[in-house]
Amino acid sequence: MTLIKGDGIGPEVVDPALRILDAAGAEIEWEERFAGLSALERGEEILPESTLESFRRTRVALKGPITTPVGTGFRSVNVALRKEFDLFANVRPSKTLLRGGRYEGVDLVVVRENTEGLYAGIEHYVDRRGNYAESITIVSREASERVIEYAFELARRRPLKRLTLVHKANILKFTSGLFLDVGREMAPRWPEVEFDDRIIDAMAMQLVLDPTRFDVIVTTNMFGDILSDLCAGLVGGLGLAPASNIGADAAMFEAVHGSAPDIVGKGIANPTALIQAAALLCEHVGQEEVGRVVRQAVERVLECGRVRTPDLGGRATTEEFTAAVLAEIG
Ligand code: NAI
Ligand code: MG
Repeated sequence: MTLIKGDGIGPEVVDPALRILDAAGAEIEWEERFAGLSALERGEEILPESTLESFRRTRVALKGPITTPVGTGFRSVNVALRKEFDLFANVRPSKTLLRGGRYEGVDLVVVRENTEGLYAGIEHYVDRRGNYAESITIVSREASERVIEYAFELARRRPLKRLTLVHKANILKFTSGLFLDVGREMAPRWPEVEFDDRIIDAMAMQLVLDPTRFDVIVTTNMFGDILSDLCAGLVGGLGLAPASNIGADAAMFEAVHGSAPDIVGKGIANPTALIQAAALLCEHVGQEEVGRVVRQAVERVLECGRVRTPDLGGRATTEEFTAAVLAEIG
């Protein structure tokens, strides 16, 4: 598999994840490649061909956060990887891991369409003075079908087997309406999945009132962007949230957070999100047992509450937290 340790706290959270996978018996051969600031510092391109070549071959990558250098004329390594490998679904699980947090028993997955919608980037000024702007939303049947199919398949494999499609079809009758129509047409193919839909604004309120009512959520790009951060907030925030980026024949696993320049080198970064991302990778490549062992070890350490990094109100270092997880694995 391709390994990109990333920038800032990237290596500080990736290295613990690799040690933990090893201890849990993962059978993975890593090919380390570079991207972002760390690639530039080595005198390479921001997204070197050797990195793309590796990922093209392995089809699976674990990636630490990447600093987006300001003013290099390159938008984002993350966007470039997503485009190159057509990673059409951004999948973000949010599960209660901390006792005494805001909500008990949350176990949600947001599946976000990641290639079109309002983020297709088709924007312009209509008048010469720049006082009137418009942006175009793209929704296609093909892109909707593949992301909704992924969400149904995911829901089918989960205990609750529930899928909620989120839209604004009452106002955006063509674009959001098409996404909803496609979902409704597909639903009979998964009779074991309980399918329903919600309007985005009502969904935001219902998630905050009682997130335990929901299981898998599928939605278009911008609604998914907002809802997945909302769901991360329901269960304790950035340090805990992993993400996978799924394509038809490639997948990339990462933490939701960035390179955290304010705490780099202090040894206090919370590696939980990256460890959880690594566990998702194991499950993706058929090493489900390893994924389960890793996830449960992290859950037990967080639940017990004695060893927590400062972002969660504790005093543990990254190393102490990692040691506690390793001890759980035994
Ligand atoms: P950030 O997520 O790096 O940091 C936001 C705040 O959360 C900071 O106070 C940071 O210390 C804290 N934090 C983040 N991860 C943490 C962890 N694992 N443990 C403890 N505390 C943690 O977001 P920011 O500052 O907006 O971005 C910094 C850089 O990261 C930018 O260059 C940005 O472009 C990049 N970035 C990269 C992402 C990726 O590669 N997927 C995602 C988001 C940002
Ligand atoms: Mg976002």
